[in-house]
Amino acid sequence: MKIAIVTGSLGLIGFEAVKFFLRINFFVIGFDNNLRKRIYQVETNYQKKLNFLKEKYSERYLHFGADIRDSPFLDKIFKEHSHKIRLILHTAAQTSHDWSAKDPVFDFSINALSTIRLLELYRHYSPKAVFIFTSTNKVYGDRVNSLSFREYKKRYDLLKSDKYYQGINEDFPIDQSLHSPFGVSKSAADLMVQEYGKYFGLRTGVFRLGVVSGVGQNGSHEQGFLSFLIKKLIKKEEFRIIGYQGKQVRDIIDARDVVSAFYYYYHQPKQGEIYNLGGGRENSLSILELIDQIKILTGERIKITYQPYHRLGDHKWWITDYSKFRNDFPNWQINFNVKKIIQDIYLNEKSGQIQNN
Ligand SMILES: NC(=O)c1ccc[n+]([C@@H]2O[C@H](COP(=O)([O-])OP(=O)(O)OC[C@H]3O[C@@H](n4cnc5c(N)ncnc54)[C@H](O)[C@@H]3O)[C@@H](O)[C@H]2O)c1
Repeated sequence: MKIAIVTGSLGLIGFEAVKFFLRINFFVIGFDNNLRKRIYQVETNYQKKLNFLKEKYSERYLHFGADIRDSPFLDKIFKEHSHKIRLILHTAAQTSHDWSAKDPVFDFSINALSTIRLLELYRHYSPKAVFIFTSTNKVYGDRVNSLSFREYKKRYDLLKSDKYYQGINEDFPIDQSLHSPFGVSKSAADLMVQEYGKYFGLRTGVFRLGVVSGVGQNGSHEQGFLSFLIKKLIKKEEFRIIGYQGKQVRDIIDARDVVSAFYYYYHQPKQGEIYNLGGGRENSLSILELIDQIKILTGERIKITYQPYHRLGDHKWWITDYSKFRNDFPNWQINFNVKKIIQDIYLNEKSGQIQNN
């Protein structure tokens, strides 16, 4: 039986991936230690997700609640199942740009050091497998803020004639800008994953993601703003917009579309390729536009307050140009637009469900 190892298996992207690969008959080994609950102090649906997997896939899902930085189980799994391991999907991370400044060493130990640890196990025991790493658009730092934005009533945007109007592609420089310790720890891992492809000739892939959202996300003040905002809406609590008067723009992609992109790559992997992946211009919104959209879709209006100063290094505008991925994998497409993402999260949060399927 083919094995997929998924780190961060009960997080947003990891859990979608686990379900996806179980559905197509993989044996999945997941690692997740519920770090999110501990460091961001949020309630997570870790146990609900684990119960679901145990009930539905007890034969083909094996879970370790261990820290991937030092778990001896990780070595053991690679040694015992080396030839059966076909995919390593590394999503476990300290995911917050802001939180990373509280403890840059801790952040680096997870985001960068655990990545090289996994890469070494992969290189020694399962070099025929495919290794996919979830990187971030924060590797590009805050240079994007120096583009020539116009300020409109509800958003910042570029003129149609601007070369980046459709979004930022992989040619955008990654250095000589401010990243946050998180941006740097992810950049280090991103480069190392590329290197294991290019230097060692292994089949690695790096996906630089923008805002990924979806049902079951444990949104918190630190990260996962769409899910966090909808939770606040449902609890009738205030949502604080941090900086840029709410005109900052993001493109949003559903975790299910991200996982389907991984699947395409798994079938046709390259050596250390990088891809920007996000919802694109058609799924981009400012926070103010998002709040309007939520009102239209749910009939509810969230109470907002404004913090005048933006987060250090926060993007004023980010839209992903994902055309490189589309050109390489023309059959992949976005199946869940931003309206559908909002509706699904809202309905599931209201009913306490952790998933659509
Ligand atoms: N969601 C987004 O908007 C987004 C955007 C860009 C990049 N990414 C990247 O995608 C990946 C997944 O993001 P997500 O949104 O699913 O995050 P998530 O926080 O929902 O999931 C990550 C999971 O990893 C687990 N984890 C963290 N450190 C661990 C450790 N040392 N040992 C074991 N488990 C550990 C956490 O408990 C969590 O469940 C991350 O690498 C993140 O940087 C996400």
